[in-house]
Amino acid sequence: MFLVASTNAAIGLTQAMTLLRDGASAIDAVEVAIRAVEANADDHSVGVGGYPNLLGEVELDAGLMQGHDLTSGSVAALKQYPQAISIARKVMERLPHVLLVGTGAARFAAEMGFEPSNLLTEPAREAWTKGLQPEMSVEDLEHIQERHDLWRWVEIATDPERTGGTTNVIARDIDGHLCVGVSTSGWAWKYPGRVGDSPLVGAGFYADDRYGAAACTGAGEMAIRAATAHSIVMYMKMGLPLMEAGTRAMADLNDLGGRYLAGMNFIAVDSHGNHAGFSTYEGAEYLYFEASMEEPVEVPRTHVPVKARWGSNVSCVGERVS
Ligand code: GLY
Repeated sequence: MFLVASTNAAIGLTQAMTLLRDGASAIDAVEVAIRAVEANADDHSVGVGGYPNLLGEVELDAGLMQGHDLTSGSVAALKQYPQAISIARKVMERLPHVLLVGTGAARFAAEMGFEPSNLLTEPAREAWTKGLQPEMSVEDLEHIQERHDLWRWVEIATDPERTGGTTNVIARDIDGHLCVGVSTSGWAWKYPGRVGDSPLVGAGFYADDRYGAAACTGAGEMAIRAATAHSIVMYMKMGLPLMEAGTRAMADLNDLGGRYLAGMNFIAVDSHGNHAGFSTYEGAEYLYFEASMEEPVEVPRTHVPVKARWGSNVSCVGERVS
């Protein structure tokens, strides 16, 4: 039994490990760990307190997948319901669908008995105001809902040097089953309705007990285009060892053209229980916690450089994300 996670999931890992030790399923452990991150208003990349979109509205993406039967559920661009990962689980368990978005996801959350609440905290609102003010005047911001040219602002607003975040958790339970979960408020000041990799099977997460599991944080558009989480697992299915599979999947990002390439991170495990983390940022870490340990330990991620560019700035490197 073990948990592998991004560092910002530390807040939920003890509770998740207690569940695993009591014989709970991997999905129960993933859900409880991620719920703790979603409830942590000090984490501005996930759930309550997450940084909002350009309009100042918090929109959440989350998804999970079980490795024993490849079942999966997700929500995207979900407003007003903080427990995105639990709603994603309900999508998987109660519907013949895999992904719900926007108002449909919120409607389903209400039907499932989830309580709506305000996700935009005062610190996040202040950060939004300050984050946009270098480019927008106070008057611009006051009237932002009426604008018809938000697209003009989005390249500056989602500059990866100033934004980032997401949480990843992979669990293996007493029966050896894997589950992976991801939750995020997405890129700060994103265009309304923007969906990243976090709720997309194969992009932000993937799990298959026979080969392994993987989950991403970082520039979601890149993971979507390269099908990064699935690539890692697919490379292992093809027989590559975990370290090589992760390095290859990261190197694949160098094949992406276009003007918007930033940073990427992922965690991964193989079917033997080996674990690893990878990042385009030097000095990044992830968490590993197995049942015999008292607490999670930080493990260095393997640094794999990937070329980054943003708009006309081809040397952009971006800040480290958890
Ligand atoms: N990786 C999270 C996002 O791009 O939204």
